[in-house]
Amino acid sequence: MPTDGPLVDTFGRVHDDLRLSVTDRCNLRCSYCMPEEGVTFRPRTDILSYEEFAVVARVAKSVGVTSVRFTGGEPLVRKGIVDLVAKVAEVGFSDIALTTNGTLLGGLAAGLVGAGLIRVNISCDSLRPERFAQIRRRGELGVVLDAMDAAEDAGLLPVKVNVVLVAGLNDDEILDFAAFSRATGRPVRFIEYMPLDADGHWRREQVVAGHDVVARIASCWPLEPVDAAGDAAPAERYRFTDGHGEIGVVASVTRPFCGTCNRLRLTADGAVQNCLFSDDELSVRDVLRGGGSDEDVADVLRRAVWGKRAGHGINDPEFLRPRRSMSMIGG
Ligand code: 5AD
Ligand code: SF4
Repeated sequence: MPTDGPLVDTFGRVHDDLRLSVTDRCNLRCSYCMPEEGVTFRPRTDILSYEEFAVVARVAKSVGVTSVRFTGGEPLVRKGIVDLVAKVAEVGFSDIALTTNGTLLGGLAAGLVGAGLIRVNISCDSLRPERFAQIRRRGELGVVLDAMDAAEDAGLLPVKVNVVLVAGLNDDEILDFAAFSRATGRPVRFIEYMPLDADGHWRREQVVAGHDVVARIASCWPLEPVDAAGDAAPAERYRFTDGHGEIGVVASVTRPFCGTCNRLRLTADGAVQNCLFSDDELSVRDVLRGGGSDEDVADVLRRAVWGKRAGHGINDPEFLRPRRSMSMIGG
């Protein structure tokens, strides 16, 4: 394993994108993510402090990380999130983004921009108020649509909209979402449903393949691929040829992009994870709380990346669901 230089894995993939799950809590219980009742969260003392997140961010930068994304649970339920963003932003990254369910964003958008946040992804899985409420089990569509406006007014651009498609639940809204993107100019990303729901209800038949989504939309409005050279984001992007709006598909199940994955994740309780689907984790919290040096922290990051496997194996017959669900890792 290299002991200096950027974070590189055994396949030569350089890792420069760090996701910080700042809390495992959420104010919603989306049906594709969490059970309605009986969710337990980690005790607060298990969760990294702002200072601890800032140390990891600083060390990560020193080993080549250039972008950071805040995730959860729902990152905006973490108390003092604006200060936390400011602390991490002070380290100096070229991109600082946040993935949110949008419920608390309206009131925080301006503060987050002041803290250094650059852009947001907002989850919104239906444009029909009743269905939206049913999927989220809590929360209102209007609040989230208003939050999109507030985010734009505050300068968090572009506001990307994340849609997890589940066959039979919301796949009849693909064209509505395409029209929404055309009307608002907001890029909409359709995400394939992954076996990361806490309930273990995922079934392969519920996955709506990204290429079907593109075909369905293209049959209504002509699309052209966006040349995203140098763009490590996993979404395959398309713009409407008349210049209004953009869609993307994140085909994690039907077309895995593990070969170009540049992501490293830190869970709220300080575990470094090299893949959403991996149960191998190394605790940076133990290192920090045991008085470890920056070099010790860097070593944990290096070892996590070095231990990365070739791919997630969702499509292998022997695939086992990971222990942590999406709500505990974030996007
Ligand atoms: N499959 C795909 N995406 C998921 N998300 C949550 N659970 C799943 C799942 N099982 C998405 C959220 C959000 C991001 C954090 O992850 O909708 O966009
Ligand atoms: Fe929904 Fe995200 Fe909360 Fe899961 S973590 S319940 S997907 S808002």
